[in-house]
Amino acid sequence: MGRNSVAKPTILVTGGAGYIGSHAVLALQKAGYDVLVLDNLVYGHRDLVDRVLRVELIVGDTNDRALLDQLFATRPIAAVMHFAAYAYVGESVTDPGKYYRNNVVGTLTLLEAMVAAGVKYFVFSSTCATYGVPKWIPLTEDHPQEPINPYGASKLMVERVLADFDRAHDLKSVCFRYFNAAGADPTGLLGEDHNPETHLIPLVLDTALGRQEAISILGTDYSTPDGTCIRDYIHVTDLAQAHILGLEYLLQGGESQQLNLGNGQGFSVKEVIDSARHVTGLEIKAVERDRRLGDPPVLVGSSDRARQLLGWQPQYPNLPEIIAHAWQWHQKRHKLP
Ligand SMILES: NC(=O)c1ccc[n+]([C@@H]2O[C@H](COP(=O)([O-])OP(=O)(O)OC[C@H]3O[C@@H](n4cnc5c(N)ncnc54)[C@H](O)[C@@H]3O)[C@@H](O)[C@H]2O)c1
Repeated sequence: MGRNSVAKPTILVTGGAGYIGSHAVLALQKAGYDVLVLDNLVYGHRDLVDRVLRVELIVGDTNDRALLDQLFATRPIAAVMHFAAYAYVGESVTDPGKYYRNNVVGTLTLLEAMVAAGVKYFVFSSTCATYGVPKWIPLTEDHPQEPINPYGASKLMVERVLADFDRAHDLKSVCFRYFNAAGADPTGLLGEDHNPETHLIPLVLDTALGRQEAISILGTDYSTPDGTCIRDYIHVTDLAQAHILGLEYLLQGGESQQLNLGNGQGFSVKEVIDSARHVTGLEIKAVERDRRLGDPPVLVGSSDRARQLLGWQPQYPNLPEIIAHAWQWHQKRHKLP
């Protein structure tokens, strides 16, 4: 840092060894912040933090209050970006306790430790799954929040806890309700590597690489132009940039907010597969199967509020570019020559 520059504060990133959290760490580094990652590595990747990002990693859990107290007491942490959560919708239905314990109790433990330590700023990964079945499209932030699975419910509960913690403790937060995070760091440093993977684009790319035989299209009789579900894919680097803007908004004294983060455009499952065929130049076998229970035909969000309030402007809104960045990472991660 230059002689006349003011040192920027330390940001604690929970879940920073995961997909979106690691991209946020990179964006924080580029913006000049000191970063500390807390991740229990249940799903995260140590090598991304240690070797690629070269940031200090504390291997630990948001449910560990003693560890959190020690971290807040010994580090100059000014704010927390909280990505740590479980996010498998299907598993949340069969094992709801796991989701409420990790996503709700874990977050509550973290928030109580923050209040005790006087840390006042919190950026939270919420989700469009808090809305449930859309009553209108594009979804706006004032749409009723009626989640249809425990995962969405766990995130909504945290949003409510945050509203109460603002009133009681003046803890200011930005809740970002993401649509489908996709793509990878454009320079090829980071990308998506969930295990198990349930997201469409990496599964399509797995098929392109021959890591699975075919991609399943779950339902071709929806009320959409080509009969397949339409989703809103937002580039993970654009998501990460919104987190920097949200953080700075809070550090400058902004009031708590709930903001959608999406692309504003929807793409069908068939459009995603066709675009991936074009980007990769490979044949990608698709098989048509029955609908999955609980999938709304269309999920597309309006992010006008985030654009207006934060001046956020997605840099990579085009689907082929999102897929091209994911493909670059996917080949490298899975060692295709
Ligand atoms: N990926 C998406 O499209 C999407 C959409 C909406 C919301 N979200 C939310 O964004 C966040 C990040 O998602 P992601 O796709 O990067 O997931 P991810 O699984 O890649 O990352 C989550 C990270 O949190 C860690 N973790 C989980 N529980 C923890 C705990 N109790 N203590 C410490 N570390 C813990 C995991 O090891 C993992 O590294 C999640 O909160 C998720 O619910 C994701």
